[in-house]
Amino acid sequence: MLILGIETSCDETAAAIVKDGKTIVSNVVASSQEIHEKYGGIIPEIAARQQLTSIIPVISEALGKGLGWDPKKTTAPPAIDAIAVTAGGPGLIGSLLVGIETAKTLALIWNKPIVPVTHFLAHVYANWIDQEAPPLPAIVLTVSGGHTDLLLMINHGSYKWLGGTRDDSAGDAFDKCARLLGLEYPGGPAISKLADRYFEKNPDRKLTMFPRPMKDTQDYDFSFSGLKTAVSNIVRINSTKYTKPQLAAEIQEAIIDSLIHKTLKAEEEYKPKSLLLAGGVAANKRLREKFESEISASGGSKNLRNSKSKIDLRVPPPALCTDNATFIAAWANFNYKPIAWDKIEAIPDAFEAAQKYGNLKNRPQ
Ligand code: KG4
Ligand code: ZN
Repeated sequence: MLILGIETSCDETAAAIVKDGKTIVSNVVASSQEIHEKYGGIIPEIAARQQLTSIIPVISEALGKGLGWDPKKTTAPPAIDAIAVTAGGPGLIGSLLVGIETAKTLALIWNKPIVPVTHFLAHVYANWIDQEAPPLPAIVLTVSGGHTDLLLMINHGSYKWLGGTRDDSAGDAFDKCARLLGLEYPGGPAISKLADRYFEKNPDRKLTMFPRPMKDTQDYDFSFSGLKTAVSNIVRINSTKYTKPQLAAEIQEAIIDSLIHKTLKAEEEYKPKSLLLAGGVAANKRLREKFESEISASGGSKNLRNSKSKIDLRVPPPALCTDNATFIAAWANFNYKPIAWDKIEAIPDAFEAAQKYGNLKNRPQ
């Protein structure tokens, strides 16, 4: 099945054509990140306006590159089987509406089925793209600017939400702490780059400056908002005592340790066949390396098909971790439930969207 995916939940405008949920036919991403850089974060109104400017060129490019479809030469619809669109969960309402209304219009005039997709449930499908399908059940860690969630994925369309952040997302923690250090937006890649510089000179240094909140709680929740207060105090009171690369390395380590600790706790309890990372923060080099060494220390392996590993760790390539439309199309392929276009609405809340469109049964209290 050939699906056109459309993703506009935040500051990326993306369209992709994916075959059978795993082979990329085309993948186009435009980002308004550069405009947001000068404000140090995303301005929703500006993001939505940029979505409007980019949506038609991005979809046309994906159809042109993937299928040679050229509306100047043909009035026939492109040879896709369905359209998948991010309908929420989470997303900025103005940005979401641009993708949804465009997708509905195309579905109507081309007479194609349309599948609404919940963004945070779809991220993990980057692990199905261009690789052998991961074995299920899986523990899924989705870490991004808009979400930090741990799920047990029993099968396609069958999930149990185990826990998530009680305040800031992991990506937000990177972005806000980076801002306190005077680094550019988005903060994750900026902190990672500076931290690497620190590691080059201090490879064996223990990084314990900041607390790891909720480490010993029985649940699968995280808390990252205290980190920015701790960083802000250090920057204000001891601004000359530490270098920026050292603080960057400490911030990164505090976030990563919290994520790894609860994920491995879930792995121990549920004994899944695979551990799947997803979302923008999963592009972080240190996070990937630490997960790999933890898993191989416990007898597991990364993508080794024939190993006797206890657990298969999968991490998408960095370009598929951050927002794009390939995983939107892939989710729709494996959870194919088209609905009437006039029944699709934008739902910014992640759990509301997941319950309506993603078959998620439980939600945080
Ligand atoms: O998945 P994504 O592109 O958008 C959302 O759905 O939110 O994630 C964006 C987030 C930002 O907070 C950004 O700082 C973070 O992912 N990020 C990273 C890295 N690359 C992106 N965080 C840590 N290290 C990275 N290399
Ligand atoms: Zn995302």
